[in-house]
Amino acid sequence: MRKKIVAGNWKMNNGLIQTETLISELKQQIKTSDAEVMIAPAFTNLWHAFEATRQYPIEVVAQNMHYAENGAYTGEINAGMLKSIGIQTVILGHSERRAYYNETDEALAKKVDTALNHDMSVIFCFGEELADRKAGNHEVIVQEQIEKALFHLDASAFENIVLAYEPVWAIGTGETASPQQAQDMHAFIRKVLANKYGQDTANSVSILYGGSVKPNNAKEIFSKPDVDGGLIGGASLKAEDFFAIVNAF
Ligand code: 13P
Repeated sequence: MRKKIVAGNWKMNNGLIQTETLISELKQQIKTSDAEVMIAPAFTNLWHAFEATRQYPIEVVAQNMHYAENGAYTGEINAGMLKSIGIQTVILGHSERRAYYNETDEALAKKVDTALNHDMSVIFCFGEELADRKAGNHEVIVQEQIEKALFHLDASAFENIVLAYEPVWAIGTGETASPQQAQDMHAFIRKVLANKYGQDTANSVSILYGGSVKPNNAKEIFSKPDVDGGLIGGASLKAEDFFAIVNAF
């Protein structure tokens, strides 16, 4: 069965004290749930977060990494550094990184390869912009993003890949894709995977939805058959809201 996942992407929020506080609130509220719970704090707090959640069913993941093994890349973090502090999973391809740091499909393909070579898991993000959706190109764009960054891989690589559909127009805007829009896109993504890798692989890959998931809309979004969880931005910064979303399963 596909994994159910609720992951909080904290983005560039929370210093050490706020990280400690939020994690201790999460630890008080966490119960065994059907969904795996992940949080992605900033790089500077990953080690603390990893240590602080060791005995709890919360996986700490990174928001990004470089594709190179090491070298003269000032300000960057590599896979080995993440692994050295216990981090096993990295978010790659977030639309904010694509938009503000010019991350291309080609660079993302390299990052995915590096992560997998280091036995890490990847939460791979993609999604169309509003203009693409309005023009009716959303499926073409999403298919292209997936193909360019992932379709050089073998089917077995998908054991370590989770997909996250995040329509850019729904991120941080309060405007969520409707549950049906999410379902339609997730079913389309599964079809794209099935055409390339076969139905078994397509059925085994978890596909998360991200973009203004809140306590009041999570249940309906998660009730859709091809939606296997969520990647949560703003609402993951408050323990109460985050758990309301986790409990929506
Ligand atoms: P919001 O939940 O704030 O819309 O952010 C979604 C997101 O970008 C998660 O990666």
